[in-house]
Amino acid sequence: MNNNYPKPMIIMHWITFVLVVIVYLTSGDPTRTGLQGQIHVIGGISIFILFFVRLSVVFLYKRSIPQNEIINPYQIKLFKIVRFTLYVSLCVVPIAGWLALSSFTDNFQVFSLNLPLLSSVREVKYIGQMHQFLGNFFITVVGLHACAALIHHFIFKDNVLKSMLFKKMK
Ligand code: HEM
Ligand code: HEM
Repeated sequence: MNNNYPKPMIIMHWITFVLVVIVYLTSGDPTRTGLQGQIHVIGGISIFILFFVRLSVVFLYKRSIPQNEIINPYQIKLFKIVRFTLYVSLCVVPIAGWLALSSFTDNFQVFSLNLPLLSSVREVKYIGQMHQFLGNFFITVVGLHACAALIHHFIFKDNVLKSMLFKKMK
């Protein structure tokens, strides 16, 4: 039996990972950080678009998603909560970012095109802080999720991490 995630899901997973790293490294107020800010916004928008591509891929391949070994019944519950939090964040954090940007400026260009922004939230103070908080919370959950994957690999020595890699499992 093939116990790996389907290739399109593996590709989506690792592209999202790279984008999240880029977006995190370029975070800051994009209206003041020039090219770095542009990269943050483009990366964040790409994560948002990929979220919907990912949903379609998950839907198409849902029968081929592997069932990894379960150490105890709480493990599956915890994995579902973390997965749900990651999914919600991939959609909500970029929206909060777009609202934060709208609260700072009414003119932001990406690739020389004006990004459509929401004028009704202009000057609303707490939106930027909300996006910062959600962004940092998301990165924390990603960190815990990655640690869990590494613990599975190096301590439990099971196939959980391998199931998200391109290697064929024994
Ligand atoms: C998953 C995607 C994203 C993540 C993880 C993320 C993460 C972050 C983080 C952690 C900060 C705080 C940086 C600091 O402490 O100074 C930040 C700032 C900011 N981001 Fe994002 N961001 C994402 C997407 C976006 C998008 C799509 C936009 C705009 C369209 C955006 C606009 C902003 C703005 C305006 C700030 C400055 C907020 C402030 O200083 O109050 N972000 N982002
Ligand atoms: C931005 C970073 C990340 C995000 C948003 C993320 C998100 C997800 C999501 C949503 C799943 C469920 C499967 C799916 O729908 O694709 C998943 C599974 C998985 N991720 Fe990540 N992940 C990230 C980073 C990492 C890292 C750095 C590692 C490894 C060190 C990792 C290892 C895994 C493994 C092994 C699975 C399969 C778990 C299982 O089936 O029990 N992920 N990830």
